[in-house]
Amino acid sequence: MPVITEIEDLKRIYKRRVPKMFYDYAETGSWSEQTFRENSSDFDRLYFRQRVAVDMTHRSTASTLVGEEVAMPVAIAPVGLLGMQSADGEIKAAQAAETFGIPFTLSTLSICSIEDVAAKTSKPFWFQVYTLKDDDFMTRLLARAKAAGCETIVITLDLQLQGQRHKDLKNGLSAPPKPTLATMLNLATKIPWGLEMLGTPRRTFGNVVGHAKGVTDPRSLTSWTGQAFDQALDWDRVAELRRMWDGKVIVKGIMDAEDAAKAINAGADAIVVSNHGGRQLDGALSSIRALEPVVEAVGDKVEVHLDSGIRSGQDILKALALGAKGVMIGRAMVYGLGAMGKKGVSEALRVLQRELEYTMALSGRTSIAAIDRDILHVPKGFSGDWDR
Ligand code: GLV
Repeated sequence: MPVITEIEDLKRIYKRRVPKMFYDYAETGSWSEQTFRENSSDFDRLYFRQRVAVDMTHRSTASTLVGEEVAMPVAIAPVGLLGMQSADGEIKAAQAAETFGIPFTLSTLSICSIEDVAAKTSKPFWFQVYTLKDDDFMTRLLARAKAAGCETIVITLDLQLQGQRHKDLKNGLSAPPKPTLATMLNLATKIPWGLEMLGTPRRTFGNVVGHAKGVTDPRSLTSWTGQAFDQALDWDRVAELRRMWDGKVIVKGIMDAEDAAKAINAGADAIVVSNHGGRQLDGALSSIRALEPVVEAVGDKVEVHLDSGIRSGQDILKALALGAKGVMIGRAMVYGLGAMGKKGVSEALRVLQRELEYTMALSGRTSIAAIDRDILHVPKGFSGDWDR
């Protein structure tokens, strides 16, 4: 087994192992990919203050997220099609998260269904929902999540329309892949992936196919989102969904202080500052730049989490220092999953935790509660100073 010392190691293996169509699906932003790139590169504009001679013998990354104890303040973000990155990918990622002691969020657009994941895990996972036109389907989806033992839902608010990702259109992304010449030629170079995939019956959208009506091609993500997602979504609908769920509700996709206030009014228990990994509004701020104004507006009313751009423990620490209670990781986990399945997700989490723990200590902090903005040099205007 290769020595894994950083997330990039997993990404290299992932790229070799998984069909181009699914690598591209994960490794893309919308349109020009400006926001996708800046989500990561903006972290490099923040610097740590090196602090010395601080007793660092007792270190811990333990914390809580929406009241749950976690081994580090990281949750696995909802990511569609994990079961195409590795056979039964959602089950593997959920199990790795459970063993590590962090929350796993299952996407509505998963390959393994809610019931599949519940059957193979023992702790409640978080379930992500889009707001869909089909009320009936939506109600049943929430009932299925409840029956599966989920206590927390994550409502994604930034995908009423899907931002265009050029590569997905050019590759003809679908699950399972359609047998075009280009796809078949590429699959011929991915034999271990293919053999693994033949060993599972789960190869299309498990929460949707056979459950949703009126969707002509549910195997195509683009056509399914185009037909099923509720473009009429507004804050009244968010409040209604909040009332439909008797557990915790996290709303994801908040990039603006005004929207944060609306999310709190609608009854959110936590909000996630996220631009969907740069996959929706291209040209939006990176989420790390958007974080502080949201944190200021929210105060201590609810928890603020950050997602989009996290590739290292250093990134996690920077987000915590600017006021996030926790972060979500998507691609950093996908690289591990695609590279080596469940073991790869565990490796990704191990790498991130070690980077977080050591970077905290070298910044003079030994517990999550002690992290504050004081550990950073933040360039003037980093978090704002815009005309509005
Ligand atoms: C779905 O949420 C996607 O970003 O592909």
